[in-house]
Amino acid sequence: MGDIREGIIKYELQRELEKARQLEREGRIDQSGRHYMKASALYKRLAKDMPLHESREVFETAAQYEALASTAQKVTKSKPDDEEMPSEVIDSLIITQKPDTKWEDIGGLEEAKSAIKEAIILPFIKHKPSFVKSPRTILLYGPPGTGKTLLAKASSHNLGATFFEARISALLSKYYGESPKLVDALFSKARKMQPSLMFIDELDSIAISRDSDMHETTRRVLSQLLTEIEGFNTKGAERVLVMGATNKPWDLDDAVVSRFQKKVYVPLPDEASRKSILKIHLKGADTGGLDIGTLAGKTDCFSGRDLAALCQEAIMHMVREENPGLESLTSKDVEYYSLNYRPLGEKDFDFAFGKVKPVAGRRDIEKYELWKKDFGG
Ligand SMILES: Nc1ncnc2c1ncn2[C@@H]1O[C@H](COP(=O)(O)OP(=O)(O)OP(=O)(O)O)[C@@H](O)[C@H]1O
Ligand SMILES: [Mg+2]
Repeated sequence: MGDIREGIIKYELQRELEKARQLEREGRIDQSGRHYMKASALYKRLAKDMPLHESREVFETAAQYEALASTAQKVTKSKPDDEEMPSEVIDSLIITQKPDTKWEDIGGLEEAKSAIKEAIILPFIKHKPSFVKSPRTILLYGPPGTGKTLLAKASSHNLGATFFEARISALLSKYYGESPKLVDALFSKARKMQPSLMFIDELDSIAISRDSDMHETTRRVLSQLLTEIEGFNTKGAERVLVMGATNKPWDLDDAVVSRFQKKVYVPLPDEASRKSILKIHLKGADTGGLDIGTLAGKTDCFSGRDLAALCQEAIMHMVREENPGLESLTSKDVEYYSLNYRPLGEKDFDFAFGKVKPVAGRRDIEKYELWKKDFGG
């Protein structure tokens, strides 16, 4: 049952982080704090169930999210753009992690996985002839929820690297002062803590901000970001990898696209991949009465995220049925309550299919294929 409990917590955690980032993107920074706080609490719950030596880093991440939450909650819309940011604020915006995502936690994506495995290992091989060039900057592109962040985390885990997340929404937010200092602090910390992996998510939001009439500071932050990325292409000795991700590669301008030496397409899963993704997300549950192959057949156009949501809905349907009154347990009851469960059945998935619909459509897929033809991956 441990796997199911951990799965539910991780799923909740991801949802809280996604909500926080969405609010951040919309400029509702102060409201994102509540979700970062919840994420911090969930990290602590995960850490409590771990062996001591593994839990330390997770507790650290929990503390970082707590600091970020309190910074976010203090943000006021009246802050002047060019006010100096105190160093504690800068620090609280940089979240580092040691992700525990492994290659086998990612279903399908064999091509993407092997392209990345090869690319990330080369820069770390000390003895190689000078004509063997190794990319340090990799762009992952594909529909939402297909495993781009997972791939970056698994790469980081595989290399024993510290994972840095450069959240463009935070970097560009005028509520944090749009300070180029943040970019500076982020990259110098990544250098200090190498091996590290700098993950720059939502790259397309750079493109959007380029279109509109951009504030001078924002422009400086962007060009500094691009210069930093470029720096990793040329500086040989540093053990820092940069991975960017986007689900709208066509919105990126050439200055951004050309900074990435390697492009990797992360597509929607085919039927066989969907089967392995479903198995990953049903790990620990009794699925004896289910035909996972049939389920995979019924999930055309589902992304990995949609499949994870489908499994969680089915599991929660089973949990609710077996534990009536679950929602009225007090925090004291929770300590002693042992969750009842039974094998998953078709009725649980019938319920889940009513709740979860795929996000991407066929037409989007053609767009990615076309971009791939032009730019590679
Ligand atoms: N290939 C996969 N195998 C297993 N789980 C997956 C896979 N792809 C996605 N998932 C599930 O969906 C969640 C979201 O995946 P991830 O964050 O990597 O998507 P993404 O491509 O980064 O999405 P976005 O473009 O929205 O940032 C994962 O945490 C995982 O639960
Ligand atoms: Mg992502």
